[in-house]
Amino acid sequence: MSHARIAGTGSYLPARAMTNAELESLVDTSDQWIRERTGIIERHIADPSECCTDLAEQAARRAIEAAGLMPEDIDLVIVATSTPDQVFPSTACRLLERLGIHGGPPAFDMAAACSGFVYGLDTATRFIATGGARRALVVGAEVFSRILDWTDRSTCVLFGDGAGAVVLEQSEQPGVLSSHLHADGRQEPLLNVPWGVGQGYDALNGDTGTVSMRGNEVFRVAVRTLGALVDETLAANSLDRSDVDWLVPHQANIRIMTATARQLGLSVDRMVSTVERHGNTSAASIPLALDTAVRDGRIQRGDLLLLEAFGAGFTWGSALVRY
Ligand code: UT7
Repeated sequence: MSHARIAGTGSYLPARAMTNAELESLVDTSDQWIRERTGIIERHIADPSECCTDLAEQAARRAIEAAGLMPEDIDLVIVATSTPDQVFPSTACRLLERLGIHGGPPAFDMAAACSGFVYGLDTATRFIATGGARRALVVGAEVFSRILDWTDRSTCVLFGDGAGAVVLEQSEQPGVLSSHLHADGRQEPLLNVPWGVGQGYDALNGDTGTVSMRGNEVFRVAVRTLGALVDETLAANSLDRSDVDWLVPHQANIRIMTATARQLGLSVDRMVSTVERHGNTSAASIPLALDTAVRDGRIQRGDLLLLEAFGAGFTWGSALVRY
C-alpha cells in the first residue's frame, strides 16, 4: 500500500467580486446582518460566459504547475461539483479535454454537495493506496450563482463561485493519514435543490431549480455533527487535539467554523478562513482555502491539517493530512 501526499495546490476565483452592499440593492438585507451572521464580506460571481469547467481548468492548471508536473502526468481526475456544465459528459471528462490529457485515465464527477472535495480526496487516496493511480487531480469547482434564487435573502447572500484543486501523488511518506465519510438521507427537506430530470420533469419548460435551505436547522445539525466528526478523526489516529496545526474547514459560516475550532481547542488564528472573501463555494471551499494558506505561507510542509465539511444529503466528512 502506498501513501498519497499533496504535491501541489491551485485555485481560481472569477474576476467579479460582489459586495454585501451590492446585495442590499437586490434584497432586504444589510452588510451588518451578513457580516454578523455569516462572516461574509464579499463573494465572487462567474461571468455568464464562464462555466464550471472553465473554473476547474484554471485551478487544475495551477495545482499541476505547483506539483512540478505536466497535465499528461495525471492518471486520475475527480471533479467534485453540484453545478456541472451539463448532465453528461461529466465535468471531469470535459476537464480532461481542456487539459489535453489523452492517455485515457479514469475521470468522473463526485456529487456530495459541500462535502464533495473531501469525498474526492478520500477516493483518490484509495486509488493511490491500491496502485490504481500514481498522480491524481482532485478538483472542487462550483458556479453556485446559477442555482440561487436572487430574490431569496436567506440563501442568495451566502454563496459564491470558485474552484480549488490538489494533485495527490504516490509517496513513501504519509500524506493523507485518514479520511472519514458519512451520509444520511433523512433530512433532505432541510437543504436541497429540487430540480433534475426526475419525476415530474417538464422537458419543454425545464428551468434550473434553486437552493432551498432551512438555515437555522442546518446550522444546528452542522455544529453538532462536525464536533463529533473532529473527535472521530483524532481518535482514529490516536492524536490529541493539540497535535493539529491547521483546521481547514468548509467555509459555510464563520460561526460554524469557530465552533469546530473551539471543539479542537484551536485558536482561531490556526483556522484557515476565506469565507470573508469567498462566501460559501460548496465543494470548492476547502481546496480554495487550502491553496490560499499554502500560497501565503501559513501552511508549511510537515504541518498537520484537519479538513472537514458538512453539506446537503446530509453528507459530511473529514481528512487528516500531513502536508
Ligand atoms: O454549506 C452547506 C451547509 N450550510 C450551512 O452550513 C449553513 C448553515 N446555516 C447558517 O449558516 C445560518 O443559519 C444562516 C446564515 C443561513 C442564517 O443565520 P441564522 O442566525 O440561523 O438566522 P435565522 O435563519 O434564524 O434568521 C434570523 C432572522 C430571521 O428574521 P426573524 O424571523 O427573526 O424576523 C430571518 O428572516 O434573520 C432574517 N434573515 C435575514 N435578515 C437580513 C434571514 N436572512 C437574512 C438576510 N438579511 N440575508
